Amino acid sequence: MNHGYTYQSTLAASGTCHWRIEDIIGGDKRLDFSKSFMPESLAQVETLSFLNDEEKKILNQIRGNTYLCIFGLVEEFILPFVLDQAKSQLHGDDYRARALLQFASEEAKHIQLFKQFRNEFESGFGTECPVIGPAEAIANAILAHDELGVALTTLHIEWMVQSHYLGSVKDDQDLDPQFKSLLKHHWIEEVQHAKLDTLMVEAMAGGKTEEEILRSVDEYLAIGGFIDGGLTQQVEFDMASLMAATGRFFTDAQQDEFRRVQRKANRWTYLGSGMTHPKLLESLESLSPKARARVEEVSVAFC
Ligand SMILES: [Fe+2]
Ligand SMILES: [Fe+2]
Repeated sequence: MNHGYTYQSTLAASGTCHWRIEDIIGGDKRLDFSKSFMPESLAQVETLSFLNDEEKKILNQIRGNTYLCIFGLVEEFILPFVLDQAKSQLHGDDYRARALLQFASEEAKHIQLFKQFRNEFESGFGTECPVIGPAEAIANAILAHDELGVALTTLHIEWMVQSHYLGSVKDDQDLDPQFKSLLKHHWIEEVQHAKLDTLMVEAMAGGKTEEEILRSVDEYLAIGGFIDGGLTQQVEFDMASLMAATGRFFTDAQQDEFRRVQRKANRWTYLGSGMTHPKLLESLESLSPKARARVEEVSVAFC
């Protein structure tokens, strides 16, 4: 695959955009609860016919909280995965070892950032908003899969962050500037992660037969199915959070509408937008055209 990524260049680039948690959250850097947190293309609250504008904004903020918490969750599996990859070849390419350790260190920082965000969100929002978990159980379930399947899932997540920020967040002037700043700082570091994952996927796939690669793609799709099950539960949590925050109780028909709209929104946010990312599809194509075709076929259900 002709992408030009190297461990040396990603390491050099990551050194130029480093930030500290205390520079972007806490102190006078507060969330503004009078504003939306998420772009509508991901939150998809506007079509819910039984919510007024204030209630739509509250749901948007609940989705924003869930979004960062879910990133916190998935990064709990990415961290040990990347550390294992670094450890397995510590004495080979020095740039590789340093780039992967830098990657792991940034994910550990992101996990801490998202925890700090959640505390701030809960104290400002005023209602507890449950999120699926626990993180360790989810990480263990994902890490039980084949190594290349896990690497493809990580690649999916990294490219997904790129498309969310560049495609929906960056030019949206209506979002809370503080929430947007968190998304921006996260995105900045993820740029290099996406390149490192591309290199990892290539290295893992090297020497595998097409049959073995397609088995790993099935593992990646199975992890997607596992995440989809969690998202179904998360929609129930988000609906309960919205009812608690607004003091309303939705009728059966309203609950059905909420599930239909928000399930589709969650599937697109975390699964469809990653599975259809051109860079993920390029990586799959370079492993095997059949691998790309398989993912494109399944992705229809998540778009
Ligand atoms: Fe991250
Ligand atoms: Fe990352």
